[in-house]
Amino acid sequence: MRFIDGSMPSVASIRSSLLAWYDRHARTLAWRALPGETADPYRVWLSEIMLQQTTVPHATPYFLAFTRRWPTVIDLARADDGEVMAAWAGLGYYARARNLLACARVVADGMGGVFPDDEAALLKLPGVGAYTAAAITAIAFGKPANVVDGNVERVMARLFAVEAPLPGGKPRLKGLAESLVRAERPGDWAQALMDLGATVCRPSSPLCETCPLSRQCAAFAAGDPDGYPRRDAKALRPHRHGVAYLTVRDGRVALVRRPAKGLLGGMLGLPTTEWRTARWSMSEALAAAPSPAAWRHVGDVAHVFTHFSLTLSVYEANEADAPEDAVWLALEEALAATPTVFRKALQPLQASLPFMGGDRR
Ligand code: ADE
Repeated sequence: MRFIDGSMPSVASIRSSLLAWYDRHARTLAWRALPGETADPYRVWLSEIMLQQTTVPHATPYFLAFTRRWPTVIDLARADDGEVMAAWAGLGYYARARNLLACARVVADGMGGVFPDDEAALLKLPGVGAYTAAAITAIAFGKPANVVDGNVERVMARLFAVEAPLPGGKPRLKGLAESLVRAERPGDWAQALMDLGATVCRPSSPLCETCPLSRQCAAFAAGDPDGYPRRDAKALRPHRHGVAYLTVRDGRVALVRRPAKGLLGGMLGLPTTEWRTARWSMSEALAAAPSPAAWRHVGDVAHVFTHFSLTLSVYEANEADAPEDAVWLALEEALAATPTVFRKALQPLQASLPFMGGDRR
């Protein structure tokens, strides 16, 4: 974490460079307060929960729809569960939507609709983890808090050229982030780090030539920003293989609800085999299909989950019998209701099947 000449950048220089950049380049985001205004804790909480799983462009229309329909935490607490779950579809992870409602009800019924302004009390709310509690503390209440997600870890790993590989190096990166937190402008500081990580200090091909911290950045000085964060070879993701079955009838796709527990729990997806280490041969894929039909291999989809990467071979048979509990959705609805890995598997359908719009000629 030193420069080649042995010097260390000062906390003050790092902070002033990044905050000055943020003053000029802060992204305009639906949940962000204007400079000088305090952010509404409900909006901050809601946006942070949505952003745990997805990107700013994907979350923004959901945030706008939720806040239009349920402008306060009390409105959300009084909402019908089914309506909230339906409005959440496409954001993924129903467990998160259930926790969202549970949290809204704790705040509305037990706290008079007022979010606690203290990090430890926020941490006790359903669905609020260390990152979210810190983000609300800093952004909504203007109190210093160490807001560390994967983006901030990456910025720290590069700024200080941290050699300790992930995942073991996480506490070290968190400690470095902590060393930069001060009482001044806590919300801006947290969001400046987030914006820098999202737009400049990107996972690959970072834009160092426009980075406000390049002069203080040890990885840049070493000529290897892409090489950080280091990763433990043992932590490399294992690879798995699965088969997904695509059945289309009357312009609708057959989906099944996944078990509540486990990966993508409770979400709709295509029927699949188990996801295993060995490839699936065509005869195995046909034997494991939900029904006998003229299944054709139409392509492969690659997806990276946190703990493994996946190749999903997609087989298609129109008019095949679907599992009894299948949910039939039009392509648009299916794309909105399924997690990304299945959206990828559905994508070729849009191009190759003109009748998906309902016109079967
Ligand atoms: N990602 C997660 N939370 C964010 C926020 N408040 N601003 C920008 N990006 C974010």
